[in-house]
Amino acid sequence: MKSKVTIPSILNAKKEKRKISMLTAYDYLMAKILDEAEIDILLVGDSVGFVHMGLQSTIPVTMDQMVYHSSIVARATERALVITDMPFGSYTVSKEEAVKNAIRLVKDGGAHGVKLEGGKRVLDKIKAIIDAEIPVMGHLGLTPQSEHKFGGFKVQAKSEDAVERLISDALALEEVGVFSIVLEGIPIEAARRVTEILRIPTIGIGAGKYCDGQVLVTHDMLGLTDFTAKFVKEYSKLKSEIISAAKLFSEEVKNNQFPTLEYSYDVDIKKETKADLIENISDEKKSFDKI
Ligand code: KIV
Repeated sequence: MKSKVTIPSILNAKKEKRKISMLTAYDYLMAKILDEAEIDILLVGDSVGFVHMGLQSTIPVTMDQMVYHSSIVARATERALVITDMPFGSYTVSKEEAVKNAIRLVKDGGAHGVKLEGGKRVLDKIKAIIDAEIPVMGHLGLTPQSEHKFGGFKVQAKSEDAVERLISDALALEEVGVFSIVLEGIPIEAARRVTEILRIPTIGIGAGKYCDGQVLVTHDMLGLTDFTAKFVKEYSKLKSEIISAAKLFSEEVKNNQFPTLEYSYDVDIKKETKADLIENISDEKKSFDKI
């Protein structure tokens, strides 16, 4: 039995200088495969909006959708820690609503903890969620839910002042009790400074090598999407593999090459006797009896 990844084991990873791997998962099959690959954290990201729903933004993603995806990822997972994103608008209105929504993601969505974007501006909500016994992962830097405020998906913390603000936000999150922080779309040096100051682990995406862990959107790193960005390394070219396989299938169907006998039930069809009929009926009865 593989040992389960837990909040304490993620905190220990930083102390023991073990890097943390995190990938996104939104469905049963992918979550099962990534869990088998021993990815430490499966993030049910609101990037589900881009990857699964064909949206241009994470903003329209709803609580119901996050609960649905989280519950199927949680069902598939034996080893990994499952962290689920709180979608836009689900934690900013009031502490009460933030706690209620976080509880839904844990209770109905099976998440072990939640992730939400922002620093001091959402600190009271984060504290309330942690006080409700729900582990929280922070998210600073290029926070996609703030795309309109930023004027698009732009690298953040590019000035000394902005780095100071980032460090101050990160320290405030650590102080209030988050167990780790995602640092997205910031210069390597800014991520190094934040990572060195904090006792909790940082997990980078487009934030360079000094973070305590790394996360990518699974479908990007598998080469399934057409998304290109400097920080995305394609570890596979699955889109072109799928296109080749689908084209070959289509060609074989149209040329009558599939299915051959190998893929067919080549059984002699007998005339049914009265005895066969009785046997079938009693078989059916047996399977009903089981139910
Ligand atoms: O939604 C998401 O996938 C994320 C990661 C990119 C960190 O928040």
